[in-house]
Amino acid sequence: MELKLRMARLAKEDRFPFHMPGHKGKFPAVFGDFDPTELPGLDNLHSPQGVLARAQAKVADIYKVHKTYFLVNGSSTGIMAAITSLIRPGDLILVTPTCHKSVLAGLVHSGAMPVWVRQEFCLRRKLWLPPTPDQVHQLLAAHSVQAAIFTNPDYYGQVPDLQGITEVCHAHDVPVIVDEAHGAHLFFGQGLGLPKSGVGVGCDIIVQSPHKTLPALTQAAWMHIGCADVDRVQESLNIFHTTSPSYLLLASLEYAAHFAKTRGARLLKRLSLLAKVLDTKLAPLNLPDLPEPAADWTKFLLPNRRGLLEQLLAKGIYPELVQQDKILFMLTMADAIQPAGIAQLQQVLDHLPHWSPVPEREISVPPLPTQACTPREAWLCPGEKLSIGSALGRVSRQVVAPYPPGTMVVAPGQRLGEEQIDYLEKLRAEKVIPEWIEVI
Ligand SMILES: Cc1ncc(COP(=O)(O)O)c(C=O)c1O
Repeated sequence: MELKLRMARLAKEDRFPFHMPGHKGKFPAVFGDFDPTELPGLDNLHSPQGVLARAQAKVADIYKVHKTYFLVNGSSTGIMAAITSLIRPGDLILVTPTCHKSVLAGLVHSGAMPVWVRQEFCLRRKLWLPPTPDQVHQLLAAHSVQAAIFTNPDYYGQVPDLQGITEVCHAHDVPVIVDEAHGAHLFFGQGLGLPKSGVGVGCDIIVQSPHKTLPALTQAAWMHIGCADVDRVQESLNIFHTTSPSYLLLASLEYAAHFAKTRGARLLKRLSLLAKVLDTKLAPLNLPDLPEPAADWTKFLLPNRRGLLEQLLAKGIYPELVQQDKILFMLTMADAIQPAGIAQLQQVLDHLPHWSPVPEREISVPPLPTQACTPREAWLCPGEKLSIGSALGRVSRQVVAPYPPGTMVVAPGQRLGEEQIDYLEKLRAEKVIPEWIEVI
């Protein structure tokens, strides 16, 4: 790992730093003593020609893609850069309503007009279902779209038929961006029941967050270019990226790729066995037999029970997401190395049949609102803050995307009808969103 070696060498040589960062490595108890910046020999993320270019090329080689760009502000930066590199103001882009809020940021920056795919809501699972190739085909036949963006997998591990969707898009000459923030591990788990990654099915831009599913530092992400003719990506990244990228993050990307290449498949195999044991703990619950969309089994989804969260926290088990009806646990290669957490979770789950279910919550999701103008036009308008109940008939200026998981509920430029207001009122009552909304 050349980047790591160079950083270690520099840390020894650079004894009298008269450069950033301000802590100069003199506060080791607080920050550690190893936080180099763009020093001679460490290249430049905004125009990589040396060690960073070589590290990126190695990752591209591992994932078998045309090119890879390192990102230091998560997939969010990559998604915004991907959209702005393909889209010009007024262009149409195919988008799913359950997209991450960074997609909305990409729409605001680029000036694109979204063409929304009408996703189905599964009342039994209480989850939005992924878009289908047929839905995509119908929209592309009806609209002249410049690009499409899909999530693979979503926060809950569900995936679309990405291969089918990509074939449809390419048949219409539409490049495919994949938000694979939760999917950097998929490539290494083929043959283990994991869904396909966008890098394996010919997608054009695939943005991944190794910090979510591989051993990399928080915010460390990368973006793969699957085809040769996407230009302007570096230029777009340079607009969004900090001019002071953390080399700790960059080195962690180099490490994550090397780790996944050398140990990923074996560890995922071990993890799949551990995940199967967790699944067996759900058997006594007699959960309804639900049609299973292809799913990423590293996301372990548990039906919530009264008092379950308290039990988990008491054992030091912190889930990724807790919702009224479900709890989500993320399993990664790190759990295969140290399975103590999964063992602890299994013990808690042994008692699951004795706990009573949480009361069923009635969910009626609103239909897609009308897109009155582009997200950018709405964003640039002076806004007025109104209580949610008073916003009926108005156009939202803002993104409403409660975090976690940061999935969008309202986009800028959407007109709020009665059903949307009712739904927002429910979210407000649950304190998931603020009391007010900014409208134009
Ligand atoms: C589906 C999805 N896409 C993109 C992102 C953004 O990724 P990052 O946090 O690396 O910026 C997230 C974050 O949770 C996400 O859930």
